[in-house]
Amino acid sequence: MIWTIFLLCQAALLYFILTHRTRSKSEPPLDKGVIPWLGHALEFGKDASKFLNRMKLKHGDIFTVRVAGRYVTILLDPHSYDSIINDSESLDFTRYAQVLMERIFNLRLPYHQPAKEKAMMKQHFLGGNFTALNSTMSRHLQALLKAEMPGNQKDWKEEGLFNFSYGTLFKAGYLTLFGGEQNNNSTDPLKVYKEYRVFDGLLTKMARGTLKPEEKRTAQTVRQRLWELLAQAGLTEDSGSNPWLHAYRRLLQEEGADEEMQKRAILMQLWATQGNVGPAAFWLLGFLLTNPEALTAVRREFNTISHTETSEACLLDGPVNTPVFDSALEETLRLTAASFITREVVQEKTFHMANGQEYLLRRGDRVCLFPFNSPQMDHEIYHEPQKYKYDRFLNEDGSVMRDFYKGGKRLKYYTMPWGAGANGCVGKQFAINTIRQFVYMVLTNFDLELCDPNAQMPDVNPGRYGFGMLQPEGDLLVRYKTRNTH
Ligand code: HEM
Ligand SMILES: *[C@@H]1O[C@H](CO)[C@@H](O)[C@H](O)[C@H]1NC(C)=O
Ligand SMILES: *[C@@H]1O[C@H](CO)[C@@H](O)[C@H](O)[C@H]1NC(C)=O
Ligand SMILES: *[C@@H]1O[C@H](CO)[C@@H](O)[C@H](O)[C@H]1NC(C)=O
Ligand SMILES: *[C@@H]1O[C@H](CO)[C@@H](O)[C@H](O)[C@H]1NC(C)=O
Ligand SMILES: *[C@@H]1O[C@H](CO)[C@@H](O)[C@H](O)[C@H]1NC(C)=O
Ligand SMILES: *[C@@H]1O[C@H](CO)[C@@H](O)[C@H](O)[C@H]1NC(C)=O
Repeated sequence: MIWTIFLLCQAALLYFILTHRTRSKSEPPLDKGVIPWLGHALEFGKDASKFLNRMKLKHGDIFTVRVAGRYVTILLDPHSYDSIINDSESLDFTRYAQVLMERIFNLRLPYHQPAKEKAMMKQHFLGGNFTALNSTMSRHLQALLKAEMPGNQKDWKEEGLFNFSYGTLFKAGYLTLFGGEQNNNSTDPLKVYKEYRVFDGLLTKMARGTLKPEEKRTAQTVRQRLWELLAQAGLTEDSGSNPWLHAYRRLLQEEGADEEMQKRAILMQLWATQGNVGPAAFWLLGFLLTNPEALTAVRREFNTISHTETSEACLLDGPVNTPVFDSALEETLRLTAASFITREVVQEKTFHMANGQEYLLRRGDRVCLFPFNSPQMDHEIYHEPQKYKYDRFLNEDGSVMRDFYKGGKRLKYYTMPWGAGANGCVGKQFAINTIRQFVYMVLTNFDLELCDPNAQMPDVNPGRYGFGMLQPEGDLLVRYKTRNTH
């Protein structure tokens, strides 16, 4: 008995020595929270935006919190973001990315070459090859929407807008980037979508390592099924999938990944390329439906384009100028894009804030920016930041509004839905173009309305802050039918 107590005390002392940390004068304010080791992990995971706002009120724009044994320095001053984003010498992007890769996708690449992967993706998602993606995506979207609503059907169809948007865009994106032709030996995109949604529902818990035992089993099963569904994707050059996937396979082989690891890596790409577009389109359509003047303005712009162009296909494929739509989308992303930008401190660094203050960043800590809280929802930058204003990014003369200020100083970053710097999103142009095509097709082919005309946008699921596009808690019921064109 005495020995047990003695050993427990020893263990407690050892633990205290190992985890005890005090702030040195040159470091940001330290807030360890009251729970040993876990620190603020629970509050952080429950609603990161709210938690970080509370910490900001207490400590200011920079502070260090303890989260599940790790110390994370949070920076919320957008004027100072550049010196974190630019410094790839002291601050490493890949280490934390690899932790997530392993936790979410069970993926380990022995000779990971992030820079080479990035260059390969740029080649396929930007520039000349982009034209082919544009038109393939448009073709699949049109076919899927047509199948959704056969021309002879005149009755309203009711559905949740989130599931409708996510499902349609996921299936079209899957066919464009992963699968072959519809009904042509390729894996059924609906099956992949349904499995993916289960996986997506558990994603944040996988990332935090907080799955309950039965969730862990579900996660394992669904991951296994998705790996099997994706096993053939990109294997051969003529398997019907887009050339980018074949190029990615070759790169994975170079990186020492066997077939098993390749499947896992392809699931990760499914997430990177399909996980955000559907939710973004949902929020945009939802905001338009609940803000009639915004819907009218976007419709008016689409109408002028389809009248001036000789054929509808012009809008769908060619470059077009849609400032109203662009502003409506930018405003949507301001309110619903919520990625963390995380780096690991690999060598001690003196960090200079834009206001002249200096802080020491400790080796082994993480640094995390959260652009959702600032600049995107910052009331010093945006008047009534909680409100959807479709023309927030338009000047009086219809040009793009780019002048936003904080503390009297113009901001370089006033929204950051795509990340920034070398690790920004390579699919940005493709994503914007896809969402524009989708919204255009839905608004011109369907009569679409809220089932309850007074319905409000659903709340945000607060557990998803930090993992890309937010998702709603529940859904927004809409009904649609083929539009009477005469
Ligand atoms: C609304 C839609 C989208 C949003 C909001 C979005 C946002 C982002 C963000 C914030 C990152 C940076 C992640 C980080 O710093 O770790 C990222 C990375 C990436 N995105 Fe997107 N994305 C979208 C759509 C797409 C699409 C359609 C594609 C491809 C066709 C794509 C491909 C990628 C890839 C490959 C990366 C990883 C880049 C790297 O390895 O550094 N994204 N995206
Ligand atoms: C970061 O890099 C960008 C371009 O790469 C440059 O415009 C900017 O001035 C740099 N900022 C800092 C703080 O180093
Ligand atoms: C398109 O992708 C191929 C690789 O599949 C590449 O060789 C080619 O240079 C790319 N074209 C452009 C215009 O980027
Ligand atoms: C694809 O669509 C986008 C948006 O409309 C446009 O900017 C781009 O020029 C198009 N790409 C090609 C190669 O047609
Ligand atoms: C969600 O969408 C898919 C098709 O994209 C459909 O099969 C499924 O029934 C929908 N689920 C609900 C609950 O509406
Ligand atoms: C199915 O794919 C093959 C090549 O894999 C192609 O020759 C054929 O035309 C496709 N069929 C349809 C209906 O798209
Ligand atoms: C596609 O499926 C048909 C039977 O439905 C089969 O005869 C054909 O070999 C398959 N093609 C490929 C490329 O797998």
